[in-house]
Amino acid sequence: MRILGLSFGRKMKNCEIMVKSALMEAEKAGADVAFIRMIDMDIKTCTGCGGCGRSLDSGGNGRCIIKDDLPYVDEEFLKADAIIVAAPVYALGPSGQLKQMADRMGPSHDLAFLTKANEQRIADGKTGDQLVDPRNFKQRYAGLISVGGASTRNWTSFGLPIMHILCFPSHIKVIDQIDAYNMGGIAHPLLDEQLMARVARMGRNIAQACGKPHSEVPFMGDEKGTCPVCNCDLLTVRGSTTVECPICGIYGQLSVEGDKVQVTFSEAEQKRSRLNYDGKLEHYVEIKGFGAIAGPKIKAAGDALNDKIKTFENYRELKFHRELKL
Ligand SMILES: Cc1cc2nc3c(=O)[nH]c(=O)nc-3n(C[C@H](O)[C@H](O)[C@H](O)COP(=O)(O)O)c2cc1C
Repeated sequence: MRILGLSFGRKMKNCEIMVKSALMEAEKAGADVAFIRMIDMDIKTCTGCGGCGRSLDSGGNGRCIIKDDLPYVDEEFLKADAIIVAAPVYALGPSGQLKQMADRMGPSHDLAFLTKANEQRIADGKTGDQLVDPRNFKQRYAGLISVGGASTRNWTSFGLPIMHILCFPSHIKVIDQIDAYNMGGIAHPLLDEQLMARVARMGRNIAQACGKPHSEVPFMGDEKGTCPVCNCDLLTVRGSTTVECPICGIYGQLSVEGDKVQVTFSEAEQKRSRLNYDGKLEHYVEIKGFGAIAGPKIKAAGDALNDKIKTFENYRELKFHRELKL
């Protein structure tokens, strides 16, 4: 069992100490562990070229064409049976590098895209290395630690929820999560025995889960969330009692009794969460269907659309000359 620890925080500061501490505990439980300090990695922004999806559809490995350190991290990601990730909260959510990485690991790591590509290859008689890398289909696990400086959780609102986007496309099941806020008040994680014990428990939880099927490993976090699938507490409310979990993309029914609020998500809705295969497949079918809708629309619009588009070209664009700093 191999567990990869990723810290998006500063060298030897809060995130790194907590991830390493969880890894140390996992190592005691028999895991082979490795750690990557993400701020040492060059992870560029996704340019939206769509090359990953096209590569996957045409027999390739779907890897991003941008030349930076993502392939190195990705290889470690694939080798791992589980990941333990800590990210600092910057401006209410995880630091931007985590989102950059998640964007770059979208379609090429999405279980529905990978499954459909592999099915097609099998149908085409492909074998061995021509198939999708089987490590993509391992049932993997994650423990997430969101680390915030502020003394109240309302300054870390999007920390854990957004960290889920690093996991759900690859079908990595989050079985433990810690909202480690108040680091400013705690001063140093090693001064908080309770926090360190909690982080160590995450290490044990993750080690125990490795190698088991998802169906056998329950969520082991301290608090079950409002959403029973992602265990996060965010809700989108649009003026009715039908509310939505923004992480899972599923609908629930909200009811209020006194000062207690309850949100119920039906079994069918839970199944179609994008954390589950059904939700990913739903989105895959939706995206694949766009070609048949958009292509004819663009064709029918013809030159009139092209002429309209031209009026936007170079419109009031500032010219930045990097060398001259002008
Ligand atoms: C640019 C910036 C923005 C921050 N925004 C928040 C915030 O919105 N909420 C919060 O609780 N902490 C915030 N913090 C504090 C960090 O989350 C905190 O210092 C954390 O421990 C950093 O992780 P590290 O020690 O592993 O680097 C911010 C820090 C920086 C540098």
